[in-house]
Amino acid sequence: MRLLVCGGAGFIGSDFVRRMLAKHADWEIVCFDKLTYAGNLDNLLPVAEDPRYSFVHGDICDRAAVESAAGGVDAIVNFAAETHVDRSIAEPEAFLHTDILGTHTLLEVVRAHGISRMVQVSTDEVYGSIDSGSFTETDTIKPSSPYSASKAGGDLQVLAYHITYGTPVVITRGSNTYGPYQYPEKLIPLFVTNALEGEKVPLYGDGMNVRDWLHADDHADGIEFALLNGEPGQVYNVGGGNERTNREITSIILDELGLGEDTIKWVADRPGHDRRYSLDCSKMAAAGWTPKVDFENGLRETIRWYRDNPEWWKKIKHGTGEFAEWRKRWYEERS
Ligand code: NAD
Ligand code: TYD
Repeated sequence: MRLLVCGGAGFIGSDFVRRMLAKHADWEIVCFDKLTYAGNLDNLLPVAEDPRYSFVHGDICDRAAVESAAGGVDAIVNFAAETHVDRSIAEPEAFLHTDILGTHTLLEVVRAHGISRMVQVSTDEVYGSIDSGSFTETDTIKPSSPYSASKAGGDLQVLAYHITYGTPVVITRGSNTYGPYQYPEKLIPLFVTNALEGEKVPLYGDGMNVRDWLHADDHADGIEFALLNGEPGQVYNVGGGNERTNREITSIILDELGLGEDTIKWVADRPGHDRRYSLDCSKMAAAGWTPKVDFENGLRETIRWYRDNPEWWKKIKHGTGEFAEWRKRWYEERS
């Protein structure tokens, strides 16, 4: 199997690349990534010398670049996206380019070159918020943020290509993911690294929003399962089955680091903040896949990984100034 992994230098994509090369001796992976602020070749250092791995710097909106990288591949797995909800509120345009037009470009390449499979890595956020019960794959999508609306636009293109041209695509809709190598703008790495540096952790609103947490290794395995066993044209929910309030997540982080609740700074809520995400994952379970990582162990191990690997995140937080600028722009007006 020769795979083109788009967005493989990000958080979940790099987990997938490292994990699939370790699991499958006969797989070759070409990682194709624009290296935006969120792309980081340090995430791929563990496989950098592996002869089965290669890297191509490129944008999924650039058809010629994708076509050249996709030569001879059996499948494309698309992780490439703008992914941070808060940044989509501050500056939505890049989300429309990459998450919609970039997905369209990949579909065109799959169609033109007869590539036998594409997995579009999507998100539970396309369904929107749900107060009780859980979303199934056939529920109507109702995204709330410019991020989730852009991901939904990508999903709709994928499904339309399958219906119209028979393009062999599957969609996974994963839930909130945690683990090592996550860019420290997202809740868990932001709070852990802030706390490690003696700073406060900015909890939005009343802290009672609920997310369903999935370990990055489980997310990678769920995508692998959909790649190998998914039916073309189908959507698969990939959830962790670990619904927690942000307040609960914060308490575990502070407990693991031996800190008190006075580390929390209550800040103004995110506009349009979805209250709860919840996935019904019985379709994946019936097909034979369920997540494996125990949540509390997985989260505590993840916290210790950030504690033990400060060189990875300090380079991001204090390196180019990009992170500092984002933090100033977003958090100054919330406090
Ligand atoms: P990330 O922000 O860590 O990484 C995104 C990667 O895509 C980066 O390496 C970036 O350089 C690359 N990229 C961005 N625009 C590109 C472009 N135009 N062309 C090529 N590469 C580009 O993201 P992540 O958290 O690893 O998420 C990966 C995928 O999983 C995304 O599609 C996201 O929507 C989905 N997802 C994420 C989560 C989560 O909790 N992180 C949950 C469910 C689904
Ligand atoms: P995030 O990691 O941005 O993921 P998503 O918005 O895609 O679910 O946020 C997870 C939850 O944490 C979400 O309810 C918003 C909340 N949150 C905070 O309370 N403070 C923060 O500084 C951030 C980044 C998120």
